[in-house]
Amino acid sequence: MSKTQDEIDFKADLTLQRLQPRLAQVWQESQISDARQHEFELRLDEHWRPLFRLLFELYHNRYDFFFHIEHVLLTAARAWAERREELCELDRHRINEPNWFQSERINGGALYVDLFGENLSKLREHVGYFKDLGLTYLHLMPLFAVRPGNNDGGYAISTYRSVDPRLGTIDDLRLFAADLRKAGISLVLDFVFNHTADDHEWARLAQAGNREFQEYYYIFPDRTEPEKYERTLREIFPTVRRGNFTWHDGMQQWVWTTFNSFQWDLNYTNPAVFRAMLEEMFFIANTGIDILRLDAVAFIWKQMGTSCENLPQAHTLIQAFNRLARIATPGLLFKSEAIVHPDDVVKYISEHECQISYNPTLMALLWESLATRKVNLLVQTLSHRYRLPRNTAWVNYLRCHDDIGWTFDDADAQAIGINAYDHRKFLNDFYTGQFPGSFARGVPFQENFETGDMRISGTMASLAGLEQAIEEDDEEKKELALRRMLLLHGVSLSIGGIPLLYLGEEWGMLNDYDFVKDPAKAGDSRWIHRPKMQWEFLEELDDHRNAGNGSIRTHIYCTTQKLIALRKSLPALAGQEMDLIALSNEHVLGYIRINEGNRLIVLANFSEEPQQIDGNKIRTAGLGRFFQNMIDDKTYATSENIVLAPYQILWLNRV
Ligand code: GLC
Ligand code: GLC
Repeated sequence: MSKTQDEIDFKADLTLQRLQPRLAQVWQESQISDARQHEFELRLDEHWRPLFRLLFELYHNRYDFFFHIEHVLLTAARAWAERREELCELDRHRINEPNWFQSERINGGALYVDLFGENLSKLREHVGYFKDLGLTYLHLMPLFAVRPGNNDGGYAISTYRSVDPRLGTIDDLRLFAADLRKAGISLVLDFVFNHTADDHEWARLAQAGNREFQEYYYIFPDRTEPEKYERTLREIFPTVRRGNFTWHDGMQQWVWTTFNSFQWDLNYTNPAVFRAMLEEMFFIANTGIDILRLDAVAFIWKQMGTSCENLPQAHTLIQAFNRLARIATPGLLFKSEAIVHPDDVVKYISEHECQISYNPTLMALLWESLATRKVNLLVQTLSHRYRLPRNTAWVNYLRCHDDIGWTFDDADAQAIGINAYDHRKFLNDFYTGQFPGSFARGVPFQENFETGDMRISGTMASLAGLEQAIEEDDEEKKELALRRMLLLHGVSLSIGGIPLLYLGEEWGMLNDYDFVKDPAKAGDSRWIHRPKMQWEFLEELDDHRNAGNGSIRTHIYCTTQKLIALRKSLPALAGQEMDLIALSNEHVLGYIRINEGNRLIVLANFSEEPQQIDGNKIRTAGLGRFFQNMIDDKTYATSENIVLAPYQILWLNRV
């Protein structure tokens, strides 16, 4: 250990010693049992030094460091003291089973409360629906009180302490969380900590001229500093506003706004902001949340002369939040939302930072493979980018509430002879339906005419060809679209990690063009893939179950549900271990999942032509001569070639 490290640990110990009387006071006020105090103190012993190092790194130059660290400790102690017994019970289980989320039984879903169930109390009536579908993880899109008018789908939060009154109350949230817990479903909410809405109390105080709160944000009197930052910044929402700063008339100052102009970036170089957001984090966690989705993690630290994305201090900051969660709410997990270059995505993932993370690279490359009918880039990328550290997992998804960005690595593309710039252009043409022969019906998001950059909006079904097929009333095309959807789900559910359904996918919901009628939504094409749940589908499903026939929707629902149930029955699908199988067929993705002696081979044909695979390859990878496709029970002998139908996916178990 270096001398300075030792020096910092010494300071950590001394600090804790000095703060003991303050901690004792918290225990006295809260009157929790000695046993509960003891649990906290054991965890504090384990995590205090690493926590202190992290905060020291960020804030040791601040005159008020000691003041804030005292508050951080007391905030953590109070959070534990206020934590309800049933949550503490879960904490204890999860401390003993830190990889609980790697089970094959975990299946996620995400939804908007209003679009799916109107409000929280009505949503409580749908717990049976989630169970039927097989979900054990439910992400509710942001549901806190928001600014009036455009609120970026809930991401412009006015207070983290109350629910949007249109959706219910904090008590409704607690009740819903308790219902889900009983049903064995984990609840996921966003922790929107990069920015607040411009009408959050802190922002209002800043606007009123309060200097303490002006220091919560990045506020500048003129363009001098913004111009200097601007030289190295990207634009995230270029069609909303050019540049990253917004002029505020009231204050007559410029405010840093990475996203919409009403979303003010928080200034984490100020330890008061860290402490204040920590209180909000514990408040949210203690309503009964299992997983926090850390929104926009890439942007939380800024430094002049850099891109202000993915800076080392962003990691330090999240690690500090993580240590505090380990101390006060130890069952809580973090999920990273870093939709950035794959080298950067993976840096947020560790037991001590975010245990789980969106897998945007896999998502984008599955769509890439569908467009090209080839898996080369996907295989090239997976071959060196899928592995993760211990006790962490990918969250695999196909669509979400956001756009698709083509965030693959240019060098990965180059390595197999693909020009990244041209390829992104092709993918954008393809998914907006402009490329000749395209089956997709996406629309552009944030097209930047200067850089040629563009992302794609659209629902899974519309991007996979169902919208076009229905429009043309073409049975063959409908069949191909259904197969594409099943193929993508089949990969997402088997490749290793937590599969996450964006609800609506289970019905093959199409783009909703009506969003343009709402002025608060019209400027943001992501609303095209945020349609309202149509409960008629479910009635239709019941009729179908009784009568034995069904529409395209009921078909999609039944196959999705069946595949989820199948995943849950296959222990080989737990964990993260995934080995690619070299197949010498550029249209077919092949991999093997191995977990505790269980094996499953997956073969996925990304073309609309039948494809052959040498049976011997399957014999050597799967160590067997006969295999059964778990999806349709058909048996294959490895003495022959294995033939995959157009877009077919096989989950092969040894017989
Ligand atoms: C995240 C959300 C996105 C939102 C942005 C700003 O990326 O997923 O919907 O626009 O953050 O909060
Ligand atoms: C960018 C950001 C991501 C955000 C998305 C919203 O890709 O990196 O955080 O969710 O924009 O469109």
